[in-house]
Amino acid sequence: MNSHAANDLQFTIYDSRLSMTSFYVTTPIYYANSLPHLGHLYTMIVVDTVARSKRQRGIDTLFLTGTDEHGINIERAAERNKRTPKEQADYVVSYFKKMTAEFGLDTEHGGFDIFMRTTEPFHYEGVSELWRRIASSKTPKGNDPIYKGHYEGWFCAPCAEYKTEDEYQKPTVEGAPPTCLVHETPLDRVSEDGYFFRLSDYDEELLRLYETRPDFVRPESRRNEVISFVRGGLQDLSVSRLKSSVSWGVPVPGDPEHTMYVWFEALTNYATAIGFGNEQQDRQFGFEKYWPAQHFVGKDILRFHAVYWPAFLLAAGVEVPRGVFAHGMWLDPTGRKMSKTLGNTIELDVLNRHFSIDAVRYFCLREMVFGQDGRFGYESLIDRVNSDLASGLGNLLSRTLAMVTKYCDGRIPTGQIPEEKILLAKRTGVDTDETTIAGFIELARDQFLQQLDNFAFSRALEIAWSIVARMDKMITDAKPWELAKDENQKQTLDTVLYRAAESLRWLSVMLYPVMPQTTTQMWTHLGLHGSPADVNPLQLKWGGLEAGSQITEVKALFPRIEKAKLLGEIGSPAPEMTRATEADAVPGRFSDQTKPAPPMTHATEADAVGVTNFIEIGDFAKVDLRVGQVLTAERVPKSDKLLLLQIDLGEDKPRQILAGIAEYYAPEKMLGRKVVIVANLKPRKLRGYESQGMVVAASYGEEGKPVIATFDEDVPNGARLK
Ligand code: MSP
Repeated sequence: MNSHAANDLQFTIYDSRLSMTSFYVTTPIYYANSLPHLGHLYTMIVVDTVARSKRQRGIDTLFLTGTDEHGINIERAAERNKRTPKEQADYVVSYFKKMTAEFGLDTEHGGFDIFMRTTEPFHYEGVSELWRRIASSKTPKGNDPIYKGHYEGWFCAPCAEYKTEDEYQKPTVEGAPPTCLVHETPLDRVSEDGYFFRLSDYDEELLRLYETRPDFVRPESRRNEVISFVRGGLQDLSVSRLKSSVSWGVPVPGDPEHTMYVWFEALTNYATAIGFGNEQQDRQFGFEKYWPAQHFVGKDILRFHAVYWPAFLLAAGVEVPRGVFAHGMWLDPTGRKMSKTLGNTIELDVLNRHFSIDAVRYFCLREMVFGQDGRFGYESLIDRVNSDLASGLGNLLSRTLAMVTKYCDGRIPTGQIPEEKILLAKRTGVDTDETTIAGFIELARDQFLQQLDNFAFSRALEIAWSIVARMDKMITDAKPWELAKDENQKQTLDTVLYRAAESLRWLSVMLYPVMPQTTTQMWTHLGLHGSPADVNPLQLKWGGLEAGSQITEVKALFPRIEKAKLLGEIGSPAPEMTRATEADAVPGRFSDQTKPAPPMTHATEADAVGVTNFIEIGDFAKVDLRVGQVLTAERVPKSDKLLLLQIDLGEDKPRQILAGIAEYYAPEKMLGRKVVIVANLKPRKLRGYESQGMVVAASYGEEGKPVIATFDEDVPNGARLK
């Protein structure tokens, strides 16, 4: 099954399934050593939204979430808490179940279909089957995919990952272990015999996969990162531990003195949950029916999902996933990593107590540009609730329905202006051509769905809110309260109110996956039966709202929040909030990019510029600063300082630019990054390479450490800074 032909087949099977009738979507399964936090809630909200949107379009959808319950880290957490590992897992699972219920993400509320636990016996069976299949096959280069060897190196328990030299901090004290760059905790020395997976034989297959399926890893910047990692050369992967050192795991088939590497086993959950290697599970869900899965993961665990996991599947002759989407991390409002020690975490209890579920969902999806890091603060959450939800969507609904009550006896009016009233209506400035608004809303719906299908939630919501803005403007321009004074304009008034109400019907359907509860309320307020969950947004037709139907009582969808008051309350936490301290057990993992920004220790050169050195705006305009995106990055041979970058400035071809940042930025850290370029700097040669511009960076400290200037929001390549 490992021949090229077989793999071609696997790729094409997927392509022919693009007209999808079933869809399987997953969150990562969460470590059972720490209590749920915002990061977990976020991945669930994202996947829940995707699942609801697919279901709404009639696609048979399965949504999996769950817990990752094996490994040394769980064993240690259990020991610390004086529990058995299984008790530890059960304890954490109870909190996850509570969280999902409170935030409307469980099966009962239309959320996940499967809560997977890797301690389930069927999982043991399925993983063992995958191992056996891999072990009995051959790599594309004709070798045994699993072989026995000796592992000598460093292991980070919280990451569940072996670390190479450039992935750890060397000790300052001789004899001490190195520390993990992510967790800043000491690494474990591992020196044991064990099993290896011959990952190095799968590089070409993987590169072919990324090449033939550009959507396999998204977003694009992460795809580039993955490709460059694989191109950089793959090392074989140690996939087992001696049972004597890690006993809490799945035994290696035929060699119970070894347990499987936790990532090998955890990744396989996506397949075993729906029946891979176990008939009963297969009968309940159907592996053939639902596989392959679309995975959503944080960028910190992308490598496992986009490199190791497809390699295991290729080795076993099983179809690779539909795709892997990597999202960014939530940081605090100032851009620092969240941690209990810094006291800048977002407590789920607080969110739950003070904000509606839909407000939290909306904020998460609107605020984080998908794929990039986002900042989460109570203040910006309140601001968004007040502006977009209370004054925006909520106000549009309440003012429309209040006017329907006042001017139309609470019944949806008719939306047509009779022929003989058209001239009269035109006098008021109201557009008498109904197709204008119908065309606008159809286009907005199509664009919204396109963005949603690309998982660009923030952009999709912006588009939806353009409908809110248009309706607000229509009402403000038409001044229904003035029209109401003139009996002859009754039909014009009715038409304006009908259009507002009909747009709200469309919005309830479109926004259902993002805000299930609120849109269902909107639906009822509009006097509609059933649920927006059951209306396929693609089948919406302008004019579907029936004239004459009775609207119901109008309640504020999103009451305005008194910001200062609520911030004050949140500042003094209620006693029950303090209970989630176990979450401290393991700090969250972040890639280097999300490390806290170092404080400025030194005044920069620019600070020294005195007032007499002001420049004219024309002087500044001479500097052509442009937005660029790093396409490739590599070290310049024999130079410690220089990176050779190819940067897309939106021009015909990329620019080659040398940057003196190699001591602080590894090449892979640069891939896909948006940077600021001085685009009209005279080209010059360095180490035999022509540099066609300069990357802008802050410089601080005695060594002039560079920190590259970048953007929080999406911005096209080539955009000018002025
Ligand atoms: N158990 C592994 C996953 C195995 S999947 C086969 C694991 N678990 S985790 O609990 O540590 O993390 C789960 C997810 O939460 C990851 O996708 C991670 O990116 C995400 N988040 C953790 N902190 C986060 C933020 N601050 N912001 C956004 N997501 C974050 O990794």
